[in-house]
Amino acid sequence: MKLVVFETKSEIAKLVSTIIIETIKENQKLVLGLATGSSPIDTYDLLIKDYQKNHTDWSQVTTFNLDEYVGLAPEHKKSYRYFMNEQLFNKINIKKENTYVPNGLGNVTANAQAYEKLLVEKGPINLQILGIGTNGHIAFNEPGTSGDSKTHVVDLTTATIEANKRFFASVKDVPTKAITMGVDSILQAQAIILIADGQAKAQAIYELVHGKITPDYPCSYLQAHDNVMVIIDSAAASLLKPPTIQPKN
Ligand code: GLP
Repeated sequence: MKLVVFETKSEIAKLVSTIIIETIKENQKLVLGLATGSSPIDTYDLLIKDYQKNHTDWSQVTTFNLDEYVGLAPEHKKSYRYFMNEQLFNKINIKKENTYVPNGLGNVTANAQAYEKLLVEKGPINLQILGIGTNGHIAFNEPGTSGDSKTHVVDLTTATIEANKRFFASVKDVPTKAITMGVDSILQAQAIILIADGQAKAQAIYELVHGKITPDYPCSYLQAHDNVMVIIDSAAASLLKPPTIQPKN
C-alpha cells in the first residue's frame, strides 16, 4: 500500500486528476471506477477544467460507479446517478451509455446481480477511485460485510445515515438501503486509489493502514490488494504511526 499525505485537500485532487488524465492518455478505452460523496468533487472539477482546456478524450472511456441509494430514481437530485451527471458526465465528452451506476429502483436484488455480471463482462476496472466512510466503509460495504461479497443490497447503518444526512433536507429523507459493489467486486480492480480528508476520517484511515484485516472495518480488506494508493490530507493521517523505518542521516 502506497501512502501519500498532503497538507491540503486541493493537492489530493490535483494528484488524483493528473493520474486519471495520464491513464486515459495511455489507455483510451480505460474502465474507470468512480465514487460519489464529497471527497472526489474537487477531483471531478479538475477533470472538467482539463477537458475544457486540453480536450482529454473521454469518448471511449467506460465508468462504473460504486453504489446507489435504493428508491431514488436517476432524476432524483440526491441520487448518485444525478450526482455523477451533474458533477462530471454532463461536462465531458463521455458517452452516457458507457457510464454505469447501479439501478436502485425495482427488483434491486436482480439489479445487483445484473450489475455484477456487467462488471465481469466489461471489466476488469483498470483504475478504481474510492472514498471511505467514517466507520471504515468502502462504497456502501458497512462493518460486518464479508470479504468475498459481490454487488448486493445493504441496510445502511445509523452512522452512515447520520454522516450522509448533510446531503438531504433531514435525516428522515436519507434512504435506509443501498445497492453497492461488494468488497470482492472492488478488489477485482487492477489499481485502487483511496482518497480521504479531514479529522473525521482519521480512525478509519488508521484501521486501513495499521489495523488487522477484519469485517469490522471493511477498508482493511484493501490490505490484501497489491496496488492500492492512499492519498489523504494531514488531518486524515493524524492518527497514523510515524514511519517504522526512519531515513538514515
Ligand atoms: C458514502 C458513499 C461512499 C463514500 C463515503 C464517504 O457513504 N457511499 O462511497 O466513500 O460516503 O463520503 P464523503 O466523501 O462525502 O466523506
